Amino acid sequence: MEKQSRKQGPTRRTILESGAAMGFVLTAGFPAMGRHMAVAANAPIDTGMTAANAIEITLNINSRNYSLGLDPRTTLLDALRNHLGLTGAKKGCDHGQCGACTVLVNGRRINACLSLAAMHEGDTIMTIEGLAAGEKLHPVQAAFVAHDGFQCGYCTPGQICSAVGMLQEAKDGWPSHASQNLNATTIALTDAEIRERMSGNICRCSAYPNIVAAIRDAATEV
Ligand code: FES
Ligand code: FES
Repeated sequence: MEKQSRKQGPTRRTILESGAAMGFVLTAGFPAMGRHMAVAANAPIDTGMTAANAIEITLNINSRNYSLGLDPRTTLLDALRNHLGLTGAKKGCDHGQCGACTVLVNGRRINACLSLAAMHEGDTIMTIEGLAAGEKLHPVQAAFVAHDGFQCGYCTPGQICSAVGMLQEAKDGWPSHASQNLNATTIALTDAEIRERMSGNICRCSAYPNIVAAIRDAATEV
């Protein structure tokens, strides 16, 4: 009996999918949830807020433009996950403490839970869903697989986006707390450097040694 009533109610998936369908209008393709396009066209703004509260913004995510009607308080993380169905970036704390929500904005890593979507009009946003080139994994993704850099996988999208951003920071000569020479233009990515630079990404499965190995490996290819 209990089983039957559960069956009749909306599932977590149907709620998520209908919410995502209502919250956006696609302006240039939509890889993750293309089957919702017809629904979205009929309901361009429905964020669960009154129309008076909603603002319209356009976000460029993984080389596609999305127009959304959003409550201005919506974080970038919630816009990605709840309104666009891009659920790769994870919410581990919503307080900037775990790094599970890390995405790349204009090539730099940020915690999407600490940033309002409305702040990113005109920015170029890259999420874990956009890193691979078709079927070909990004070198950091491939290295995580090769080195078993994950177990449950919950922190992994944030770890990988963070690593991609971190490798660029090192290339650009940004020193870290572990750097001996603050004026060096080239950063040697020692394990100590990698550990320090990745310290904003927590892994409860403690895949850290393999994550370091994966990043050390990928650094030679990126
Ligand atoms: S969810 Fe953003 S840092 Fe934890
Ligand atoms: S792989 Fe499980 S939290 Fe990192």
